[in-house]
Amino acid sequence: MVQKFNDSRGLHGQVAGTTALCTVGASGSGLTYCGYDIADLAAQASFEEVAFLLHTGELPSQTELTRFKQRLAEYRALSPLLCEILERIPKHANPMDVMRSGCSAMGVLAPEQSFADQDQHAIRMLAQFPAICCYWYHFSHFGVRIATESKADSLGGHFLTLLNQREPSEIEAAVMQASLILYAEHEFNASTFAARVAASTLTDIYSAVTGAIGTLRGPLHGGANEAAMALIDSFASPDEAEAGLLAMLAAKQKIMGFGHAVYRTRDPRNAIIKAWSRKIGTAKNNMKLFDISERCESVMWQEKKLFANADFYHASAYHLLGIPTELFTPIFVMSRVAGWTAHIKEQRGNNRIIRPGAEYIGAEPRPYTSLSMRNG
Ligand code: COA
Repeated sequence: MVQKFNDSRGLHGQVAGTTALCTVGASGSGLTYCGYDIADLAAQASFEEVAFLLHTGELPSQTELTRFKQRLAEYRALSPLLCEILERIPKHANPMDVMRSGCSAMGVLAPEQSFADQDQHAIRMLAQFPAICCYWYHFSHFGVRIATESKADSLGGHFLTLLNQREPSEIEAAVMQASLILYAEHEFNASTFAARVAASTLTDIYSAVTGAIGTLRGPLHGGANEAAMALIDSFASPDEAEAGLLAMLAAKQKIMGFGHAVYRTRDPRNAIIKAWSRKIGTAKNNMKLFDISERCESVMWQEKKLFANADFYHASAYHLLGIPTELFTPIFVMSRVAGWTAHIKEQRGNNRIIRPGAEYIGAEPRPYTSLSMRNG
């Protein structure tokens, strides 16, 4: 007889390995990278310091940081061949498919020949993902071949410079930097786990990251900030938002940007990005989206005790940075590649192929019947 199905779907709540990179929902404000609280990192560190921390386990000295940033700057320019490949991808493509294909193409054009080179390839991806997104976007939408290098001092500033074709203001660069730090790492989330599964087969770093991008593309993982933007944008005022949300909740609809699979009472990243969303709204004298978002947040808490997650206020913040909604999830890629590659290195450092078992729920053993016996 077939045994009753044991609901282990999704591996929720199960420990699937060890990591020294991140804790989610454990200590401090609820999110730490290599022992540092996310609130401290977002307030005081640069994204480059955070990427270095994830890759080495320690914050860099001034000399190490300068060298790391130099290497990131050296790798920024896309090769003519990569540009040519991006030019062939049509305007209506999903930008996440562009990121996935761009990453895969990087691995074809300059493959990882040896694991000894993994740091160099991780830095190449960090350096080039902003340009992959922006080069394709400008060429496919406006027929313009943009320069893929910039004088920007930070990766976030580099992305905004390429996207908006002007230097970002100080506050714009600061919002981008905080956002990249918040999205950089999140333990064994689906895309990171996908990267680790791939890495455990000893495949190359680009294959592992390409798989991670494809996993992040799913609406249950990345993409909630894009859906939150569509929601917020559909309301003309906070009062309209309140009425709309109440109707959606009455119809048992899911509200994007709320709730979390691990955090139970709050997402520690929310207060940080919310503060930046308020700041950029004030700086641009445009509080409409922030005010609508804040009303949504209070309605959701009042009605369902559901809290805004990291994605919700990213919507209004990104919008005021001039970022098209369809590029919100690719930014997640530009940031999370720091975490993915750190996990790939960690997996390789203590590897055993990831190959769980399955509980069989199929047919009982039975004799093979010949084709002629199955006819009719
Ligand atoms: N809107 C409306 N109801 C929600 C909700 C949301 N955003 N998130 C959770 N709920 C409901 C669930 O449907 C469930 O209701 P039920 O008990 O009647 O079935 C209840 O609240 C408890 O859900 P919970 O166990 O806390 O959530 P989960 O672990 O199953 O799912 C998410 C977590 C993140 C997938 C879920 O909250 C969600 O889909 N959020 C919207 C998408 C999103 O913002 N994703 C980005 C996450 S960073």
